[in-house]
Amino acid sequence: MSDDKLIRLDMGKLNSNIHSERPTLCLGIESSCDETSAAIVDSDRNILSHIIYSQIPEHQKYGGVVPELAARAHILAIDDVIQQTLKNAGKTIDDIDVIAATAGPGLIGGVLVGWMAATGIAQSTNKPLVAVNHLEGHALVPRLCATLADGTNKNTSVEFPYLLMLASGGHCQILLVRGVGKYELIGQTLDDSAGEAFDKVAKMLGLGYPGGPIVDKRAQSGNPRAFDFPRPLCDKPGCDFSFSGIKTAARTFLDRATQPLTDEYINDFCASFQASVVDCIVNRLSNAMKDERVISAKPKTLVVAGGVAKNSAIRSAMEKMSQNHNMTFAAPPMNLCTDNGAMIAWAGIENWRIGNIVTEPIAPRPRWPLTEL
Ligand code: KG4
Ligand code: ZN
Repeated sequence: MSDDKLIRLDMGKLNSNIHSERPTLCLGIESSCDETSAAIVDSDRNILSHIIYSQIPEHQKYGGVVPELAARAHILAIDDVIQQTLKNAGKTIDDIDVIAATAGPGLIGGVLVGWMAATGIAQSTNKPLVAVNHLEGHALVPRLCATLADGTNKNTSVEFPYLLMLASGGHCQILLVRGVGKYELIGQTLDDSAGEAFDKVAKMLGLGYPGGPIVDKRAQSGNPRAFDFPRPLCDKPGCDFSFSGIKTAARTFLDRATQPLTDEYINDFCASFQASVVDCIVNRLSNAMKDERVISAKPKTLVVAGGVAKNSAIRSAMEKMSQNHNMTFAAPPMNLCTDNGAMIAWAGIENWRIGNIVTEPIAPRPRWPLTEL
């Protein structure tokens, strides 16, 4: 977002709650894909209420998210989701200090719905408004709440800088997170995202949408060495990813299958596919650890975030890696990995603290790389 659209230090609004003893309350709204979600989060890291209305059943019969249907479903749901979120927290809009909403990247029809709702509330109540980058929501949520290596969920602050594997349905990046709004891109996918690869392979197998959770579950009963999936780019230096070769291999294996797909075949297929994704992530992250920028920043924590962070094999491989590199491992709790309003509310608080609020109309963005914050 360009600086002319954002006034980074509007001290009047910034200081509206500064002398108060109570924590700052932020209402966060997320609508960039197929979840209409809102949450109230406070600056002491408490989630007072959180509603995630998932549209998955509406898109399932099409095998993926249909943008027009998603936008319409957001319009129908948004008011109730916000009202119910306030009610569940026992709050009215007057109790809220900051309004935050996803302003991109994402499906623009849906983003507009949440953004316009947030803008309307902020303008009519004269409250500060934060335009949250959806990816920043994923990237910062481990600072709200994280599952640590011992399995406990903690309202802990993962300290900057940290090394982040951000893997969602639309993105796959390794980032050095130096602070709020300070992201250095270490590596990224050259084609599909990791989530897309999971979803497409699940679709080929007829397993339904979204594919990640189903493939993850099937893989737990399968043999990861049954199919020889490639590990694209793993013999090359650098930290970039490529998943299209894995997808093509999946298609080829399936075209060659001579018998009907038994449960055992599908489980082995999922386990072998997932093992190749895990190996690519570990390989690319190992290279990231050797990157000059990462070495000199000395991140103490290895973090995974985004919907794919729910994956059990990826979580345990990264946890093992962090031990080998003398780092702490952190991942959001399962319900904060996929899209949710709490991560947007938390990013709202983090941005509000540094004065990153909107003071004039902005245009939501379908594309908005973290490196352009
Ligand atoms: O972050 P997210 O909710 O939406 C985007 O911002 O894109 O991520 C959704 C993606 C989907 O591709 C879904 O299949 C994947 O996260 N996913 C998983 C798992 N749970 C969700 N992928 C692998 N294993 C899982 N357990
Ligand atoms: Zn997301």
